[in-house]
Amino acid sequence: MRIGLLTGGGDCPGLNAAIRAVVKQGLGEYGHSIIGFRNGWKGVVDGDVMPLERQHIRNVLPVGGTLLGTARFHPREEDGSMEAVLATLEAERIEALICIGGDGTLHAASRVADAGVKIVAIPKTIDNDVAGTDLSIGYHTAVNIAAEAIDRIHTTAESHNRVMVIEVMGRHAGWIAVNAGIAGGAEIVLAPEEPFDMDKIIKFLKHRHKAHANFSIVVVAEGAHAVPGSSMEYEVQLGKYGEIVAGAIGERVATEIQTRTGFDTRLTVLGHVQRGGSPTTTDRILGSRFGVAAVDAITRGESNVMTALRGEEVVLVPLPEVAGKVKAVPADLLRTARALA
Ligand code: F6P
Repeated sequence: MRIGLLTGGGDCPGLNAAIRAVVKQGLGEYGHSIIGFRNGWKGVVDGDVMPLERQHIRNVLPVGGTLLGTARFHPREEDGSMEAVLATLEAERIEALICIGGDGTLHAASRVADAGVKIVAIPKTIDNDVAGTDLSIGYHTAVNIAAEAIDRIHTTAESHNRVMVIEVMGRHAGWIAVNAGIAGGAEIVLAPEEPFDMDKIIKFLKHRHKAHANFSIVVVAEGAHAVPGSSMEYEVQLGKYGEIVAGAIGERVATEIQTRTGFDTRLTVLGHVQRGGSPTTTDRILGSRFGVAAVDAITRGESNVMTALRGEEVVLVPLPEVAGKVKAVPADLLRTARALA
C-alpha cells in the first residue's frame, strides 16, 4: 500500500517517535510505502513529498519537533485547497493517509475523510485537549517542563518575597496549568474551565502573606479569563487570525496583583519552551504505540478513526465523534488544585 503521512498544527515532542513507528511498522511488518508530506496539509496542497525510508528515522526518537515539518494551515473548500489535496493524493497514488495533529488538523482530516479518502488520525497537542483520548502526544513533556519551571521560580520567589505569575500554554483547556500547578505546588491556578474572580485572589493573597508566607506562585493558562462583570474586566485578547495572544492574560493578572496588593510581582511567560526539546519516555512510548496502531488499523481497512489511549489500552475511536471537540479539565482535578492552595 502507499500510505501518506503528515504532521499538522503546532509541533511538539514525541512526533518523531510516531513518524518512526509508522515507518518501521509500515515498511518492516507489511512492506507498505510511506510517503511523507512536508509541512502538514500545506505539503499535500503543494505536492511537497518526502518518501520515508529507514535512514530518515535513524536517531530521531529522542529529538523534539517533527522531521516532516508542520504548518498551521488547513484545507478549505472555499479557496480550492481541498480540491488540491484530493488532486495530490490521486497523483501520488496515496491509498490511505495518517494525519498526526491537534484540533485543527483532525477537523480537516475528518472533512477529507468525508470526501472519500481513507484516514487514520493520531492525536498530538501539548494542550492535551483532544477529545476521546486520555493523552495526546506532547502533553507529558510539556507539563514536566512547566512543573520544573515552577520549581525553579519557587526558590527565587521565596528569596525575594515576591508573587510570581507564570503563564503557561492552554488556549481552550487548562491541563498544563492545573497539573503543573499541582505538581509544582502553586498557590493559585487559573484555567479557562473556571473563570476567576480577582477580588477573591487579592483577598487570598493578602491573607496568606499576612498569616504565614512571604511569597506566592500563581499559574495562569493563556486562555484563562475573569468572571464576567467581576472587578477585573477582561476579555480574552485575540490576534489577527483569531488566536489567543500569548502573554496578555499573564501581564494583566500580574499588574492587577501588583497594584491591588502592593506585593512585588513578576511575570514569566513560558511560551514555546514548553513545546521544544527531547520528549519524555511517556511521549516516546505513546507516539510509538499510536504509530504502530495507526498502520495496523489502515492495513485492516479501517478509516475515519483516531488512535486513542483509554486507560492502559490503545483503541480506535470514530474521528467525527472527536474532531473539533475540546476535552476540558474535569471538575475534581480543578477542585484538587484549589484545595492545595
Ligand atoms: O496548539 C498548541 C499550542 O501550543 C497552544 O497552547 C498555543 O496557544 C499555541 O500552540 C501557540 O501556537 P503558535 O506556535 O502558532 O504560536
